[in-house]
This record gives sequence, C-alpha cells and structure tokens, in this order.
Amino acid sequence: MYKTNNLLWNKQKRLVIVSNRLPVNIKKKDSEVFEVTKSVGGLVTSIGSFLEKNSNISYRWIGWSGINVNKEEQEIIIKLLKQWNYSPIFLNEKEMDKFYLGFCNKTLWPLFHYFSGIATFQKESYDIYKSVNIKFAEVVASMIDVEKDILWIHDYHLMLLPSLLRDRYPSLPIGFFLHIPFPASEVFQFIPSKWRKEILNGLLGSDLIGFQTEIDTSNFSKAVLKFLGIENQLGIIHYFGRQIKISSHPISINFEKFQNALNLPTIKAKISEIKQELKGNKKMIFSVDRLDYTKGLVNRLVAYENFLEKHPEWREKIILYIVVVPSRIGVFHYQQMKKQIDELIGKINGKFSTFKWSPIIYKYGHLEFEELVALYNIADIMLVTPLRDGMNLVSKEFIASKNSNGVLILSETTGASKSLIDALIVNPNDIEEIGEAIHIAIKMPLSEQNERLIKLQTFIKKNDVNKWAENFLSELILISQKRKQYETKLLNDKILNQILDKYRNAKNTIIFLDYDGTLVEFSEKPDDAIVSKDTKLLLKSITNKNTEIVIISGRNKDFLSKHFLGIPVTLIAEHGAFYKFPQQLWKKNTITTESSWKKNIKKILLMYCDRLSGSFVEEKKYSLVFHYRKSEPESAYSIITDMMDYLKNLLANTNIGVYKGNKIIEIKPFNISKGCITELFDLNSYDLIIALGDDYTDEEMFKALLGFNNSITIKVGNAFTNAQYYLKSIHDVQRFLQKIAYS
Ligand code: UDP
Ligand code: G6P
Repeated sequence: MYKTNNLLWNKQKRLVIVSNRLPVNIKKKDSEVFEVTKSVGGLVTSIGSFLEKNSNISYRWIGWSGINVNKEEQEIIIKLLKQWNYSPIFLNEKEMDKFYLGFCNKTLWPLFHYFSGIATFQKESYDIYKSVNIKFAEVVASMIDVEKDILWIHDYHLMLLPSLLRDRYPSLPIGFFLHIPFPASEVFQFIPSKWRKEILNGLLGSDLIGFQTEIDTSNFSKAVLKFLGIENQLGIIHYFGRQIKISSHPISINFEKFQNALNLPTIKAKISEIKQELKGNKKMIFSVDRLDYTKGLVNRLVAYENFLEKHPEWREKIILYIVVVPSRIGVFHYQQMKKQIDELIGKINGKFSTFKWSPIIYKYGHLEFEELVALYNIADIMLVTPLRDGMNLVSKEFIASKNSNGVLILSETTGASKSLIDALIVNPNDIEEIGEAIHIAIKMPLSEQNERLIKLQTFIKKNDVNKWAENFLSELILISQKRKQYETKLLNDKILNQILDKYRNAKNTIIFLDYDGTLVEFSEKPDDAIVSKDTKLLLKSITNKNTEIVIISGRNKDFLSKHFLGIPVTLIAEHGAFYKFPQQLWKKNTITTESSWKKNIKKILLMYCDRLSGSFVEEKKYSLVFHYRKSEPESAYSIITDMMDYLKNLLANTNIGVYKGNKIIEIKPFNISKGCITELFDLNSYDLIIALGDDYTDEEMFKALLGFNNSITIKVGNAFTNAQYYLKSIHDVQRFLQKIAYS
C-alpha cells in the first residue's frame, strides 16, 4: 500500500485506462519503420501527467493506435508500445470514418458543445460507434484481471463501454470520466431516442461517472430522469441492484512541472531565444489551441482586430502570437475553419502591418513542451476565448508558467472559468468586450497582476492533476468496496434453483405479491392496468399446492374484488387498511385511523394538478394519491419536489406521512403499511415466506420480514431496496411464478 496525497493505492492493484486516444500516435515513416509522436489534447495531458507524477502506480493504457495497418504490422506496433504499457487498438478505414470522424466528431462533439446546427445523425455512423465500442470491450476483456484491475474509461468516444463490460464483470470497479461538457437535456434530446437511451444505459454500467463541472453533472442527472425515468438521490442513482455515483471532478494540470520547468537551463535558453525573435519591448498576447470551432478562434482574431482599430496607439507595440495545432482534419468543419483563420490572419496582417511590424505571428503546428512553457512565460496576456470548453487546460498551464506578472483573459463558457475567477472573464461572442479586456490587461498595474496571479496559482496548485485523479479514484475505490455491503443480488438461475429446492421441501408456503409493477405493467390510467387471465390461472395453479397467495396492494377493495373474483387468494387493499381471506368478507384492519385530514390536503393536491399536465388525484378510503406517470418527467420532478416539501412541512407533527412511489406521491397515515403482514398472519407457522414487490410500500413488507430466516424477499426493478434479491422485470416475475407452479 502506498499513499499519494489522498489516495491509498494498494500495490497489488493495476489501473487500466481506456481512451480512444493513446498518448502516442503512430505514423508510417517508410515501408518498415514506424514513427511514434506525442498526441495533443487535454485528455492525454492530464492522464499522462498523473501517471508521470505517480510512477509507483502500475498501469496499462488501452487506446486507438491512430493508424490502419495489416496484421503483421499490427504485431510490430503492439511490441513497440509494450515498453510504455500501451495496448493499441486498430480501426479500419471505415471505422475511422464512421466512428471517429463520424459519430464521435460529427455528432457527439458538436452536439455536446452546443453546436447542434452542425451535428449530423447518421444511423450507419451510430451502428459503427456501437461496434467499435464492442471492439474495445473485446480487447479490454482479453487483458482484464478482475481480481486486481481498476478500470477507468475516458470520454465521449466510449460511452457504451461501461455497460458492455459490466455485463461481463459484475464486480469490476469501473469509472467513467467525461472530458467534454454534458449538454442540457433539451440539447441531448436531439439524439434519436433509441440511441440516447443506449448511451445513458451504457454510462450507467459504471460505478462512478465523473464530469468536469456541477452543471455537467446536473445536466446528466436530468437526462437520466427525462429519458430513462430514473431519479437520483444526492448524486446516487439506483440501477438494477447497483448504486452509481455521479459527481464533478474538475480536471487540472501538473502545476509543479510547469513551475519547475522555469528553472531549467533549456527553458531559460528557449525564453531568451523567443524574446530575441520577438525583437524588442512589445507586449505579447499568446493563444494556443487545437484547431477547433469550439475554441472561438475567429472571434478572438476579430476582437484583436477591433482592439487595434480602437486603440491605434498600441499598433507596433503589441503582437498576437497564435498557435493552432492541426486536429481532426478529416472533418469538413475543421477544414473550413482552417481556411477561415488563414484568410482572417492574412486580412488583419495586410490591414495593419508596417515595414517593421506585423500584428500577428501565426504558427500552424505542434509545440514541444519547452517552447510552450517559454511562450506562456513570456506572454503578457493569455487570450482564451472558447465558445464552449469542458475545462480548458491551456489557461491553467499559462498561470502555472508565470513568475510575477501576466493576465489571463478567459471565456465564461469554459469549465475553467468556474474556478479561475481572478482572470478577466469575458463573453466569447462579445467582440467589443474581448477587445476592451485586452486593453484593460495591457494597462493593468503590475501589483494587481501579481495579486490576481497569486490567487490563481494558489488555487491551481491546490487543485492540481493529482487531486483530480486521486479524488476520482478514491471515490471509485470506495464505492466499489461498499458495493458488497449494499448490493442486491440478481435472482439468477442458480439462486432460482435454490429457492425451488426450498419450496419443494416446505410443507407450507405463503407468497406475498404486490400488484402494480409486480403482476401488472404500469399504465397511464391505473384502471387500464388489469391482471391478465393467464396470470390469474397461474396464481390459481400455485394455490392448488400447499401454498397460500396474498395479493397485497395499494388498490382499493372494489378493484381487487373485481379483478380477483374466483381466484382463491387473500386480498389486502389500501396497503393493509382492509383484508379479505378466500371465501370470506372484507374486514377492516383495527389499526386504521380517521380520515378527516384528506379534505384540505386534497385541495392542495388539486392545485398542483393544475400546474402539472397529465397528473391527477386518486382518493382512497384512508389515503390520497397524486399520480404523474403521464407527465413530462423534468417538469414533474421540480413540481413534485416543491409539493412534497410543502406537504411535509404542513404535516409535520401529525401522524400522516408523504411517500414517494413509482410515479406517484401517496399521503397516508404512518400506521397503514404493508408491514401489517406480521400482524395479520402467524408467519412463524410457515416453512417458507416469499415476498415480491416493486414499490416503496413493499419496502415496509421487506423490512418486516428481515427477522424471519425462512423468508425470501425479491425486488422487481432497479430501485434501492431492503430485499435480498431483485428481478429485472415483470416478465421475470412471471417466469419465477411459472417455475414455482411447475416444481
Ligand atoms: N498542447 C500541446 N502541444 C501543443 C498545444 C497544446 O501539448 O502544441 C497541449 C496543452 O499543453 C494542453 C492540451 O494540449 O495540455 C490542450 O488541452 P485543453 O484542455 O486546453 O484543450 P483540448 O485540446 O483538450 O480541447
Ligand atoms: C479533447 C477530447 C479528447 C481528445 C482531444 C484531442 O480534449 O476531450 O478526448 O483526445 O480533444 O482530439 P482528438 O480527436 O485528436 O483525439
């Protein structure tokens, strides 16, 4: 075991990183020789810096090789990359086109950055996105060691991968981190319904899903609610017997590496070399990004032009040093942007250049670390104006490469702006504001620059790349360790056979069955959710044996009487308020209380009904139910949250409780509960007790059965539960009952 600052890392463990891009890119130099170059982008910088800082962590990094070659050459590349523990994945031409350039960079990238107008939605691209995710799953599966591996999957290229692996490895710790923004649900909704559900379900295969900011986390949780109908409680999503944590983990840089670099002779030499190149005492604005329309490069250039127009006194005294790193050149919008930038720079230089000065120095290419740090260090101003950016690392790297002065101008639509509040924050579409910010920055007194810089440096130093990775991995390890404690087991065939054995050996068995969501699918109108003839026959055939069946439901007496007429089962209505044994009349449970409270509460519920389209109120003898199955989930969520708060306050200090069920809110006295089964039946007289239910009310029944060793409790569906096992659907309940009937 060894400790980085916060992370207790067990030496036996191995970190398996999976990302589309490996930190290296392979190119063919000549027929036999391969050239290995460094990849560019925030993803590889951050993970690479973390691994570099923590050389004791054993790891493997699985990702795309960046090249399409034959089998023999693949073997050569696999061997070549082994020295760094990199395992390459090979994509063919079509996969590169439809997966990488297609669904990843023509659909997800623009859409998640709110460029919905240029996002394309091609079925073939999505199909290949799926098949490439399966390809990644195969490669990961061929290398995984379930006993020692912790899997960390990265970014939008691999959103289906967590579930593909979860299906194979139920106990493997799987974390997912999204480096780009997660958009608001209205924007995510542009993705066709089937795909977006698969994407959300894909991500929910993880134990922990990390996002750059709180906004991304909240957008994701709203999408899960809106498109899968699943709510989260305090950042935990309950999903088929598992708990999934969602939280924000702002990515960062290796602060020390940049600060220490300033003392290296090579960097010092580079700094004086570039200073000489820039000739003289001009102010320097620096800008460095991948070529990407999200980075707001055009606005940046226009804002600089605007500044030179408005402040002619600064002409010949300032230079914009702009570096654009080639990226995704196979996508039309990137090619188009390159052309636009080239033309704009040509135009600005043409307009303002004098015989001794050009306003813009433009480099289209990649910078080595030394050059990058030197430029950050020399720059008086760093201009970072993305239209949308998940985090943005170059802004942080600039701050880390400074000594005592320098001003950061930062767009408010970057993740970084949420914490780098001492930068000059601008709107990336406001050309005038950016131009003005340049002016403020040039004139900013050194004392103020220093003051701001110290605050920014203190923050980034504290929240560096190690903190990002440590926090994420600690949370992942914790949630995976806790899993065993809270995990409800899937009732698989092995467990089913054990239960059937117990059933065959039992002389008498009682089976409690909830109605809605257990025997019958939910329906928009409760009256339409009617138990089928086949199910009734099935129940009848079970009760022929030494087995009693009890239907225990929130439905009222009349409904249950009507739909179970002639079936020899016991009925419990309104969660225990009334009960009826076969061939007998209905009886009132002695614990039931008065119901005068309903009048006022009903008025309030009706008021909320007016606000929420598709909702209605059901009145039972002892309770009121607010139904909202038909309503739009996001609006429903906020209205019912408000309603529940209001009712809970109003009913505090009374014996009436407010309960949230499956798309219903029920208001009922505390003492009416499915826990009443312990009073209505002498449960000790049965050899075997089986209880199945899907709702919060069934939890009271499961809790009541905790003390009975001969009980088997089964949750139907994906919500959190006190039951021992869960079944995924009503279909599985039918199968379970059939096995009982025929055993
Ligand atoms: N970078 C680099 N060489 C370059 C330009 C950029 O290594 O020539 C690195 C830069 O240092 C930063 C990363 O690429 O770490 C860019 O990350 P950022 O979050 O700013 O943007 P992204 O490319 O991920 O959208
Ligand atoms: C962003 C993405 C990364 C990606 C990088 C470079 O940082 O979040 O996943 O690797 O851009 O893009 P590329 O398409 O060259 O991998």
